[in-house]
Amino acid sequence: MKQLDELNKIKKIDRQGMLETEENFYHQLVEAKKIADSADLSKIAGKNYTGIAFLGMGGSGFVGDLIKSLIMDDSDIPIETVKGYSLPGYIDKDWLVVPVSYSGNTEETISCLKQAKERGATLLFVASGGLLEEMAEEYEACMVKVPAGHQPRGAIGFLFLPTLLALRDTGLAKVNSSDIDSALGQIKELSEKFNRGVETDKNFAKQIAMAIGNSLPVVYGSGGYLSAIAYRWKCEINENGKTPCFWAEFPELNHNETVGWERLAETTRKLTLLILRDEDENIRMKTRIDTTVGLVKTNFSKVIEIPVKGKSKLAKALSAMYTGDIASVYLALLHGVDPTPVEKIEKLKAELAKLD
Ligand code: PA5
Repeated sequence: MKQLDELNKIKKIDRQGMLETEENFYHQLVEAKKIADSADLSKIAGKNYTGIAFLGMGGSGFVGDLIKSLIMDDSDIPIETVKGYSLPGYIDKDWLVVPVSYSGNTEETISCLKQAKERGATLLFVASGGLLEEMAEEYEACMVKVPAGHQPRGAIGFLFLPTLLALRDTGLAKVNSSDIDSALGQIKELSEKFNRGVETDKNFAKQIAMAIGNSLPVVYGSGGYLSAIAYRWKCEINENGKTPCFWAEFPELNHNETVGWERLAETTRKLTLLILRDEDENIRMKTRIDTTVGLVKTNFSKVIEIPVKGKSKLAKALSAMYTGDIASVYLALLHGVDPTPVEKIEKLKAELAKLD
């Protein structure tokens, strides 16, 4: 029996139930859709915004990356993601600013949010509580409140879907209902395939974790939305797997990183390259990636291609994200690591809080 099929052992390692959170991702999305349906958006509706800015860090900041990657090709206005203490000077009263913080207490997000408020921007808060909830009340602003009790990265469905749908309902994003339904259907199918009860031989998420093993993963996304997903894989492998991981995106990586694998062979041969591959890659992207694999494969311990399928960009994005999320949990469990705690992040936040 393979290690990841020993369910009693897995349960003992995963003390706070991160695998269960992942297995329930479909249900989280269904609940998230209900939250979106009941959100009161009257305070942000009917305005002619000149831009949208997402504020947020880490797991919450990823919401902006993902939404931007999904809607920017069809957007008439610029979309920014702000990750830091300072709000760019061009974000003014005519922008919709969306602070996203699962805890509601992240200081960088709060710093930018205060600057946005001073400039008179319209605000859409997304949080489970904390200071953001208090500020939303004080400012009498629109808020999407999501359920508490998860790690921010484990609440991505709650944070992402209602935010995307709020933008759709205010006319700022084009999202077809059929795309949402097909995305949810696909996640349901995947969650059955990736469930802990499905043995390694038939479970692709477990196989990815096994393939990474003790190597250092590098994740490549093939442009557009898959770059955001490659970044998410990196963060999930870091936070759940407590494993170093790096990422880069096509085509930019072909203009620098591709050459960087030539030296330090002893080190690079301990790395696994994972490439997210859209089944609908155009011929230029396909040729680019195939050629890159040919050029660099001997520099790595192995190269694994992750096929990304779906009826829409949304379905593909969520499926590719979900595959990485649950594989990163399996990676942790394979090595006897509890995926939930992120002690170093908490210690750092506690040190900074002493400055208040
Ligand atoms: O996953 C995590 O725990 C972090 O990346 C957090 O999301 C990040 O520190 C920001 O915190 P919050 O999501 O509560 O704003």
